[in-house]
Amino acid sequence: MSYREIYKRWQDDPEAYWLNEAKSIDWDEAPTQALFDRGENIYEWYADARVNTCYNAVDRHVKAGRGAQAAIIHDSPVTGTKHTITYAELQTRVASLAGALRAKGVEKGDRVIIYMPMVPEALEAMLACARIGAIHSVVFGGFSATELAVRIEDCTPKAIIAASCGIEPNRSVHYKPLLDGAIEQAAHKPEFCVIFQREQEVAKLVEGRDVSWHGFQYGVEPAECVPVEGNHPAYILYTSGTTGAPKGVIRATAGHLVALNWTMKNIYNVDPGDVFWAASDVGWVVGHSYICYAPLIHGNTTVVFEGKPVGNPDAGTFWRVIAEHDVRAFFTAPTAIRAVKREDPHGELIKKYDLSRLKALYLAGERADPDTIIWAQEKLGKPVYDHWWQTETGCAIAANPAGVEALPVKIGSPTVAMPGYDICILGEDGTPKEPGELGAIAIKLPLPPGTLPGLWNAEARFRKSYLETFPGYYETGDAGMIDEDGYLYIMARTDDVINVAGHRLSTGLMEEVLASHPDVAECAVLGAKDALKGQVPIGFVCLTKGVDRPAEDITKECVALVRDKIGPVAAFKLAVVVDRLPKTRSGKILRRTMASLADGEDFKPPATIDDPAIIDEIAAALKTIGYPQ
Ligand code: COA
Ligand code: AMP
Repeated sequence: MSYREIYKRWQDDPEAYWLNEAKSIDWDEAPTQALFDRGENIYEWYADARVNTCYNAVDRHVKAGRGAQAAIIHDSPVTGTKHTITYAELQTRVASLAGALRAKGVEKGDRVIIYMPMVPEALEAMLACARIGAIHSVVFGGFSATELAVRIEDCTPKAIIAASCGIEPNRSVHYKPLLDGAIEQAAHKPEFCVIFQREQEVAKLVEGRDVSWHGFQYGVEPAECVPVEGNHPAYILYTSGTTGAPKGVIRATAGHLVALNWTMKNIYNVDPGDVFWAASDVGWVVGHSYICYAPLIHGNTTVVFEGKPVGNPDAGTFWRVIAEHDVRAFFTAPTAIRAVKREDPHGELIKKYDLSRLKALYLAGERADPDTIIWAQEKLGKPVYDHWWQTETGCAIAANPAGVEALPVKIGSPTVAMPGYDICILGEDGTPKEPGELGAIAIKLPLPPGTLPGLWNAEARFRKSYLETFPGYYETGDAGMIDEDGYLYIMARTDDVINVAGHRLSTGLMEEVLASHPDVAECAVLGAKDALKGQVPIGFVCLTKGVDRPAEDITKECVALVRDKIGPVAAFKLAVVVDRLPKTRSGKILRRTMASLADGEDFKPPATIDDPAIIDEIAAALKTIGYPQ
């Protein structure tokens, strides 16, 4: 069947389409119905089914006789180690960990925070939670103790599973002091913490609270898979919104299984047994879906790569991993390819490796710029597929369905809507735009299986963030257009979320942190274009009346404050002091105007600007930090 036929089959009868796709999952009780309309634009999928994610990701492959196949390959240039875990080994390890969690009182519905680097144990922790119906929430290692505390406070975990350390190029990241600090800051206290001690760093355990990963599994009964309802939350993943508080995206179990399984063949074009690699981090949605769940559910081998695209030891690492482990489909963020291209512009290192079995490169997480796509196409001699999705959807909204039919690539477009997604371009008043016209990207409700049914502890925010602007539609927060051939183009965010090295960050959160500096009266953070990271944040601060300390000291403190309160992942290194901020007459800060100035773009200040003279002051301030570049 062609892509058009599949998409039409879904359009004609979504219920039948999704019930049919559900057949590829092993159910304890199969769903009798796909969509459950809960009223007021709230939908659930396969709610009357009973199923276990871990069973589908691990046990069923062992049962089918594939226990000896590699499930996980850990390739860690930063520690100089590599090892493989088979499906049979994974089953034993996960059942043991799940049994130990259960013995300590973790039950179905309890939350467990996971704060770990790129080690197989991170996946094992996720799967162990899934095995007993506990809801995990993985927190990215680049977040600070404060951000971890915010998540502890919001999802009130019974337990936290953490590693002793992670390894960054210039330092070892000591997780344990961050964890201890977060628990101290949070009003909610977990009952216990499980610490995975790494060779590189043995953390000191807190007596009565911390147990060691190996020690607490000793002598426990392994846990069997606990069937859960189809709408049971599999996990909560926090992501950035416009305000400082992160949004806890809920992923429901059954839809997650069906949707992810669908993508592995239809989008990534891999068959069970093939090696699949997503070079991201388990702390992000790409890591949840494509390092852990989707490849395992589909019976692939997944690569857990601990390192950076460059410097481990050189810009040939990606190609070495692909050749060495026979990777058939490779997925990363454009920023990682830009990092490689910068170090190895002629692709000399690519020639060192046999990449003949790699089928395609997949890019997502941020806009894929044409230079990067063309470079990768030329140097790899493979198709390069951009695809567009969000934490909220868990997998691609628009992609090139290469496993169905490889559609012609149009550079700058993540290609076409996947089944389940009716993508619309709307004007501010909600009227549909014509092909080629720019507007807000919205998706007609209901969203397909696997997408968020809501936000943890925040129903009103869920409605406000996604459902209220365009009644009957999900608001994506992205703007773009669809051309005459149905190809989608993503142009910009409609909110103040920025994307730094493929990481989604809230400028609102950075502003909250800057505003907490005692000398800062007012501030604004915007995302400026960056050749490597796509965007980087720049902070503008106005000082409190009477402060006469050197501006340089204050900006340094601002940079340190953001690193301390949000974490190094914010990549906040640039701050300038200005006398005032450009605003509209009604007092709205003109962040977009400031971003255009930083990017050196031609622009017209809005007619509502309070005092046009401020533009020159901002331009002069930007010059002092080398912008426009
Ligand atoms: N734990 C602790 N700190 C982390 C971290 C982690 N897991 N990940 C990143 N950091 C730190 C980095 O060490 C860096 O600290 P520094 O300011 O001391 O240098 C800071 O956070 C910013 O990280 P990053 O923006 O990633 O920059 P980088 O210079 O370390 O690396 C790239 C740049 C492009 C190589 C890197 O971002 C990359 O490989 N990106 C791939 C994209 C990706 O995985 N996206 C996820 C969604 S698909
Ligand atoms: P995240 O939730 O972290 O995956 O970030 C989702 C956001 O990243 C989207 O809303 C887009 O703004 C951006 N994004 C992700 N993939 C793409 C893509 N292929 N092209 C353009 N922007 C993208």
